[in-house]
Amino acid sequence: MSDELLKVKNLRTEFKRDKTMVTAVNNVSFTIRKGEILGLVGESGCGKSVTSLSIMGLLIDTPGKVTGGEILLEGRDLLKSSDSEMRKIRGSKMSMIFQEPMSSLNPSMRVETQLIEAIRLHKPLNRKEARLYSLDMLKSVGIPDPETTLRSYPHQLSGGMSQRVVIAMAMSCDPKLLIADEPTTALDVTIQAQILDLMLRIRKEKNTGILLITHDLGVVAEMCSRVIVMYAGRIVEEAPVKELYANPRHPYTKGLIASVPKLGSKVNTLPSIPGNVPDLSVMPKGCKFAPRCQSVMDICRKSEPELKAIGGDITQKCRCFLLNTQNKEESN
Ligand SMILES: Nc1ncnc2c1ncn2[C@@H]1O[C@H](COP(=O)(O)OP(=O)(O)O)[C@@H](O)[C@H]1O
Ligand SMILES: [Mg+2]
Repeated sequence: MSDELLKVKNLRTEFKRDKTMVTAVNNVSFTIRKGEILGLVGESGCGKSVTSLSIMGLLIDTPGKVTGGEILLEGRDLLKSSDSEMRKIRGSKMSMIFQEPMSSLNPSMRVETQLIEAIRLHKPLNRKEARLYSLDMLKSVGIPDPETTLRSYPHQLSGGMSQRVVIAMAMSCDPKLLIADEPTTALDVTIQAQILDLMLRIRKEKNTGILLITHDLGVVAEMCSRVIVMYAGRIVEEAPVKELYANPRHPYTKGLIASVPKLGSKVNTLPSIPGNVPDLSVMPKGCKFAPRCQSVMDICRKSEPELKAIGGDITQKCRCFLLNTQNKEESN
């Protein structure tokens, strides 16, 4: 399909731990269309960041490695691209913003220097032109006094202002894909809402495809058209946002929805689902959620359910044995 921007197929990412390999992302597949905001949710440790770093080719600084699958950006397999090709693709075709804006900014350089450098890496502009362009970029992300911000060092900016600068930097080369990994988790409520608005505006104006990672289903409801739920490195449910709220299928999704924190809350635990995400090196046999699941059946502890389309509708998928029994009941 021509409006397909990113297609991730059977992605597998492993980490070397002691002498064995542990799988942090297991057989993950999804698609993002141009101009679409896809939500990716799940508790801490479910594999959301590792998925995004795998797409960006940014696992280099970690002991992690993509060991299987394909990542197609406009049809081009990123896993077959060289490091230097990936450097070009990052920033020109795709960019990423992180939870902590300061981690993307160099504390010892003025905003001006960093922004101009980022722009000139991908656009044929001289310094003066790049400076004017960066003023425009700062204006477009709602920075009220761009001249002062340009001359500032990162530590002189508030959290919200620095995240705007990071977004300006990420958007300065018109990427087609923006990956936002918990972009507002570190910010307070009002600023969070402003940054989310900014991302909605960017999508509308530039038709950017966005992968929005969050543990906050409240944010997903406001921003996304579709959502993927990850648990223990696997996709356990995928659905249009409305469907997910109206009719969540996976017990894990139900638990996430039941514990939706208020917009802006930093709580990252789930009162309605006791227990924790399993450690990668001691994964339970069978369904990885079984030890925490209130509806667990014998079979769940023995084998792992597949991710299946629900009732023949490929827009909604779920990885749960309960579905088999529900489907049988529905057809009886
Ligand atoms: N640099 C790393 N080295 C070893 N294991 C890692 C590293 N980064 C992430 N992991 C493991 O991968 C799993 C998924 O982590 P992550 O993608 O960061 O979760 P999330 O972003 O959903 O909170 C976790 O079990 C984590 O321990
Ligand atoms: Mg993360």
